[in-house]
Amino acid sequence: MTELLHDPQPTPLALLLLGKGSDPDSERGVECPGALPAASDPGLVERAAAAKAALGDRVFVLGHHYQRDEVIAFADVTGDSFKLAQQAAAHPEAEFIVFCGVHFMAESADILTSPAQQVILPDLAAGCSMADMADIIEVEACWEALAQAGIADATVPVTYMNSTAAIKAFTGRHGGLVCTSSNAQRSMEWAFERGEKVLFLPDQHLGRNTAVFDLGLSLDDCVVFNPFKPNGGLSLDELRAAKVILWRGHCSVHGRFTADEVDEVRVRVPGVNVIVHPECQHEVVAKADYVGSTEKIISTIAAAEPGTAWAVGTELNLVKRLATMNPDKSVVYLDRTVCFCATMNRIDLPHLVWVLESIIAGNVVNRIEVDPDTAHWAKVALDRMLALPGAALPKD
Ligand code: 13P
Ligand code: SF4
Repeated sequence: MTELLHDPQPTPLALLLLGKGSDPDSERGVECPGALPAASDPGLVERAAAAKAALGDRVFVLGHHYQRDEVIAFADVTGDSFKLAQQAAAHPEAEFIVFCGVHFMAESADILTSPAQQVILPDLAAGCSMADMADIIEVEACWEALAQAGIADATVPVTYMNSTAAIKAFTGRHGGLVCTSSNAQRSMEWAFERGEKVLFLPDQHLGRNTAVFDLGLSLDDCVVFNPFKPNGGLSLDELRAAKVILWRGHCSVHGRFTADEVDEVRVRVPGVNVIVHPECQHEVVAKADYVGSTEKIISTIAAAEPGTAWAVGTELNLVKRLATMNPDKSVVYLDRTVCFCATMNRIDLPHLVWVLESIIAGNVVNRIEVDPDTAHWAKVALDRMLALPGAALPKD
């Protein structure tokens, strides 16, 4: 009986979910020092506006398309991960880059900006489950397996932007490059101009969709390397025959969409156009009418004829915004149930107000810094991507 009177001690996992403690095995930490404004504070919008006005050009706020509306309202620029990387690199005048996105994006911004600039992630718990699926120790072990199979020298690594700085640095060291969903085709072509095989990290779906739909390879040319199995769960013959070695990672948001849902929405909404992100499974992309990065999804629907109907397979914050931005069209969500990206959603107005007001108070919180050696090699891989034809920042 008396035991019931004691408060149960929170487990480390419960503390993480509450935003306390840290997780050294993940790409993120979650400590949030200092007092956050209450989410119920009716003055939050005014506080954010006042803090931004007070900081002026000293701060530049980047907002990924999956961010909440309340955060997007204060972004100086919104974009997909490629556009935001370009924009971070293009604003050397800003002392502070506040990155409303996830941890790997803020790391990339830190790598692409000058040492005098400080990159801030409003909530350190905004990680990415896909990025967490490729750990550098596992990836080094995979490379060793490729070396044992005698194919490492013929393999060029390509890593999706959604990876830790350590994986980007690995890619740079081994002659490879970073890609995003807007330039995965060009990046894979670049790699095949330099090697016979590609090791694609960490999203197996983007890798497979690019190899098959864009480069015309067959599904049989692709194998999946499972880091939890010896030799990736592949025989030497399978490794040697493969053209694309896909890391066994996926996005927990986009991986939910199914081919059945595409069939269902076509019945539910006659004449509907189905557009999905390339992080979706191969069968889903095969059944869709269009595939593209978040930026491409936005521009395709914006350019569509009034009266057309669209079912969208990407994160729900963006789909809701697309419906608002296109009142002359019908925009519906492809999944049967809700599908927010939980970590993107961690960044809310209280966190944004907290980081901006902290800067004003002379206390920079949640700074993201990549160590110099990792940053050097990751920048090599990022610069190769930014140097691809067509990657130059459009002139204002
Ligand atoms: P893009 O911004 O490249 O479209 O990627 C979507 C995504 O999942 C970001 O985490
Ligand atoms: Fe990571 Fe997927 Fe969320 Fe993007 S949408 S941050 S890939 S979990």
